[in-house]
Amino acid sequence: MAVKRFEKNREFLKDSIRQRIDFSQTAQAKRLPTPPLQKPCPPETKRITLPEGKEALLRLGDMSVGEAIATRESVRDYGAAPLTLEELAMLLWATQGVREVLNPSCALRVVPSAGARHSFETYLAVSRVETLTAGLYRYLPFDGQLAQLTLDPHVGQQAAVACLGQGFVAAAAVTFFWTTLPARMEWRYDLAAHKAIAIDAGHVGQNLYLAAGSIGAGVCAIAAYDQEACDRLLGVDGDDEFTVYLAAVGKR
Ligand SMILES: Cc1cc2nc3c(=O)[nH]c(=O)nc-3n(C[C@H](O)[C@H](O)[C@H](O)COP(=O)(O)O)c2cc1C
Repeated sequence: MAVKRFEKNREFLKDSIRQRIDFSQTAQAKRLPTPPLQKPCPPETKRITLPEGKEALLRLGDMSVGEAIATRESVRDYGAAPLTLEELAMLLWATQGVREVLNPSCALRVVPSAGARHSFETYLAVSRVETLTAGLYRYLPFDGQLAQLTLDPHVGQQAAVACLGQGFVAAAAVTFFWTTLPARMEWRYDLAAHKAIAIDAGHVGQNLYLAAGSIGAGVCAIAAYDQEACDRLLGVDGDDEFTVYLAAVGKR
């Protein structure tokens, strides 16, 4: 029998909630518009156009899928070498790249997502990426660009503090922060959205491991972090958008 104090959280992992949802009352059923597929960017934001991510993945990745899977491991020691912008573009495309826009409310990406709702945004704490000044950026997958949010040579240390002092984060070339905008998933799945969001995050993380491994870079997934500190660092409200998962990346 489930220990009482675990019951609620165990329930989250089940899909029993689906039977209790009135799907005639979801935002989708009410024909409300979907939230934007990509979080809008203020027009004054500086944008950096990335090398084409899919081409970069096909060109740079010189490992078979089998080898990438067989050698995948978490890496917390990083070399001093920076990532190139092409390598970063490849990692971004491998994790959240857009494969096909079906219509204004639905796009397919390289990772699967329940109902193709794709609730994530990707933020980057960049310390060592060639041609990028250290700071905080956000990936704009529909534009193949980065939005430059703040320039800060200490962003890596700030990321480490926000990850409860996990030291390897400060040494990473770049740390990926994935936020969710849960309304994108709730639009279709209502109260069944949240487990799907958590599952979706795993696919993104695994693609980062495999893609990074194929270019001799190392990754460590991070789910132990200070929620408020991460959200504050990214400048997100912690309610309609909040951090769910992170990964530190660096050359080995
Ligand atoms: C969901 C998740 C959360 C994790 N969080 C952390 C973390 O906060 N800090 C850390 O050092 N490693 C973290 N890891 C990495 C695991 O410790 C690692 O995957 C595990 O020790 C197995 O090692 P391997 O990835 O090399 O196979 C996380 C991994 C996953 C999948």
